[in-house]
Amino acid sequence: MLTGGGDCPGLNAVLRAVVRSAEDSYGANVVGFRHGWRGVVESDSVELTTVATKGLLNAGGTVLGTSRYHPSDHDGAVDAILDTIARDRIGALLVVGGDGTLAAAQPLMARGVPIIGIPKTIDNDVRLTDRSVGFDTALLIATEAIDRVHTTAESHDRVMVVEVMGHRAGWLALCAGIAGGAHFILTPEDPFDIGEVAAALRHRHRRVSSSIVVVAEGAQATPGTLDFVPAESPMGQITAGAIGERVRSELTARTGFDTRLVVLGHVQRGGSPTPTDRLLATRFGVAAVEAVLEGKSGLMTALVDDQVCLVPLDEATAGIRPAPEDLRRLARMLTG
Ligand code: F6P
Repeated sequence: MLTGGGDCPGLNAVLRAVVRSAEDSYGANVVGFRHGWRGVVESDSVELTTVATKGLLNAGGTVLGTSRYHPSDHDGAVDAILDTIARDRIGALLVVGGDGTLAAAQPLMARGVPIIGIPKTIDNDVRLTDRSVGFDTALLIATEAIDRVHTTAESHDRVMVVEVMGHRAGWLALCAGIAGGAHFILTPEDPFDIGEVAAALRHRHRRVSSSIVVVAEGAQATPGTLDFVPAESPMGQITAGAIGERVRSELTARTGFDTRLVVLGHVQRGGSPTPTDRLLATRFGVAAVEAVLEGKSGLMTALVDDQVCLVPLDEATAGIRPAPEDLRRLARMLTG
């Protein structure tokens, strides 16, 4: 198995569930490749046993390490993976990742490697599953942070801009924003007009003297309304704080209100998983092992109507899952 992409709470719980169910229930061996797909290319692996994975259920991050390495970006990487699989006599790969890591499985499946995917990302934007491992914990952290900045906002008569992760989908911004009682929520799904946000803020401050504005890191301005070009890393990661600071400074300029920015950043991905994430990780881990042992491939574990099921991996990775209209409507009704 491997864990790829950004780390998140619950990865170790997946690992533990995979090892325990494989070894204790089915007598199968599990090896873990270090640092995502790179470990398979470099044949960098460690044997995982029930004893070695003891105590991992509530541990944050991933003991296997992770990376944003994509085999398709490196010449010869797919062949190197095939060599590792043949040499190490790997029967199947369990790939724990977001859509990028999971999509990297396609060329290998096409070359006959049995693969089962397990979705994880605090962005919750993997298709065909209601939840991805890590989201519930990040939601708790972001909601607690929003709860806490209400105090400063009210005490100082300030506008607090809180930037949360979510570069392509606004699940975290919407769910934490609604749960934390934010007054404005800006997301990638619904482009915002900064002039309208500022006007609504001024209107609101005729009655009250503080506001919370939650901004997803991938929030989009309506074209032509905000001078902002998001800076991205070569792997497509957005620079933390960039849109938050742009929104903060523009709101200050347009309203004259005292405005501060809080960037939650990687705090949202850190620490121990919630019970809900531990449970989801465990359910997905066991389901993935059983799928492999039944000879299945090309599938991803998913949560649909609170039932764990298997969905086609190619469909799950054919794009991302934006936040749904009912949440966005709720945000529009309760904010602004
Ligand atoms: O993919 C999850 C995510 O948390 C995104 O919301 C964020 O843009 C990205 O990871 C940050 O990744 P990195 O740790 O590589 O900067």
